[in-house]
Amino acid sequence: MSDIRITPLSDLRSIGKAQFESLYHISRLLNRLVYQDSLIEEALDLVVKVIHAERGLFVRYDAEGNAFSIIAARNVNRERLTDLSTFSSGILQQVIDKKAPCLYHDVQSDPNLSQFESVLIHQIKSVIGVPIFHQGEIWGVILADSREDRREFTDENLTFLDFFSNLVSLALDKIIRFEALEQENRILENRLQATQAVPDMIGESQPMRQMAAMIHRVARTDATVLILGESGTGKDLAAQAIHKLSTRKNKPFLAQFCGSIPDTLLESELFGYKKGAFSGATSDKKGLFEVADQGTFFLDEIGDISAALQAKLLRVLQNQEIMRLGDHKITRVNVRIIAATNKDLKALAATGEFREDLFYRLNVFPIVLPPLRERREDLALLAEHFIRRYAAREVGLSAAALQKLRDYHWPGNVRQLENVIQRALILGDGGALQPDQIILDDDGDPTLPDFAGTLKDLEIQLLQARLKKYDGNRTLTARSLGVSVRWVQLKLKEMG
Ligand SMILES: Nc1ncnc2c1ncn2[C@@H]1O[C@H](COP(=O)(O)OP(=O)(O)OP(=O)(O)O)[C@@H](O)[C@H]1O
Ligand SMILES: [Mg+2]
Repeated sequence: MSDIRITPLSDLRSIGKAQFESLYHISRLLNRLVYQDSLIEEALDLVVKVIHAERGLFVRYDAEGNAFSIIAARNVNRERLTDLSTFSSGILQQVIDKKAPCLYHDVQSDPNLSQFESVLIHQIKSVIGVPIFHQGEIWGVILADSREDRREFTDENLTFLDFFSNLVSLALDKIIRFEALEQENRILENRLQATQAVPDMIGESQPMRQMAAMIHRVARTDATVLILGESGTGKDLAAQAIHKLSTRKNKPFLAQFCGSIPDTLLESELFGYKKGAFSGATSDKKGLFEVADQGTFFLDEIGDISAALQAKLLRVLQNQEIMRLGDHKITRVNVRIIAATNKDLKALAATGEFREDLFYRLNVFPIVLPPLRERREDLALLAEHFIRRYAAREVGLSAAALQKLRDYHWPGNVRQLENVIQRALILGDGGALQPDQIILDDDGDPTLPDFAGTLKDLEIQLLQARLKKYDGNRTLTARSLGVSVRWVQLKLKEMG
């Protein structure tokens, strides 16, 4: 370190035991890993005490404006001082000019110093000032003074303060570097969030980027998130992504599907129960909210829960309180709630089918997942992603096949695409996927809503439709239906 001046050993030997001890304390103080504002004040208090000073001052020096600003100022009673004008700016200036420690005795009779108003007013008798260096420049000054009625500072005190300023310079170096790194880190983090994809969520279209930015932003908070979007748009994935990106990432992520589940079953899952709460409750059981404590809880298909459960859920959101079935005791839990639905919750709240107060509690931060048909530019990426996931070998996607994917309207969104790719891989011969292997759901198979027959009828119709599609090729037909060729042969025999 070029800016650390070596205090001569002979001088060091002159430092007494008390001052050595305080140097030891100060070095430990300054060596703390994290910088706190109180650190310098604590160090100054030690200095004031050990050299029997009246006051201690630590100022930052701004060379450009030739100005000083207080970092810390303390008096002998460990009180914080805020008025820099009560200290002699003239003496501070002398330290700057000399770039060296200065000790003044009998200040009042020194014509050069006593001219400074503050020295006169405050009856200052003796002053020590030492510079603090950072990268070869004066960064600040430490000053200690005492009044008429106190004893004068000694050369020993000067050596002590000089040593102290060296320690501060070292610590300062560390702190400044650390703070710069921290700052840089936050900037980089911020920049990453703007461009970084959400883990596991494929898509680079504008709607996906916007959604990713929202997910990154909300993940760091504890806000309740409501994920909205059609079936198969990736609501489950989004919920998991929020958890993974949050500070709760090492705590549990629990999910509960709330659609079409009997009310008491769902309630006992979520809230737990007390022994004897209902027949079959043979022992106490924790609910999932309790299990998820400190973590994230994902309520999937929230639009389907009963009015009674909606009331209980409101309590979780408002007070973080739960009560087990058959119990009177309230338990507090700390869970972050994420809810999802493909229903229009706002409309349900307007008609009274969903509690309005619960809707507003959930709707703190809504995230809408775009349907696949509104981001067709992601189809190539997504298709390749699923091919990689499901193909045993490397398989391509022909331009014509990709065009077929782009032309489709994808009512089942990404989940449907996933199924279509899986099917295509089964039908394919290992080469690049071709359009005829891309079977889209309204390609001639019977459509279920209009179908009035039995399951057997459906089986027959589906088989016939597929055979027709594959020009009677039984192997392809079997593959597309996920059955063996032998099954197809048996069925044909049955049908005659
Ligand atoms: N952006 C994406 N990138 C990769 N895979 C995706 C993406 N979005 C969805 N998927 C996949 O699509 C399938 C359906 O996604 P998910 O279950 O999250 O949808 P959902 O919106 O919860 O559907 P539902 O409303 O039916 O519950 C999953 O296998 C998921 O991995
Ligand atoms: Mg889902």
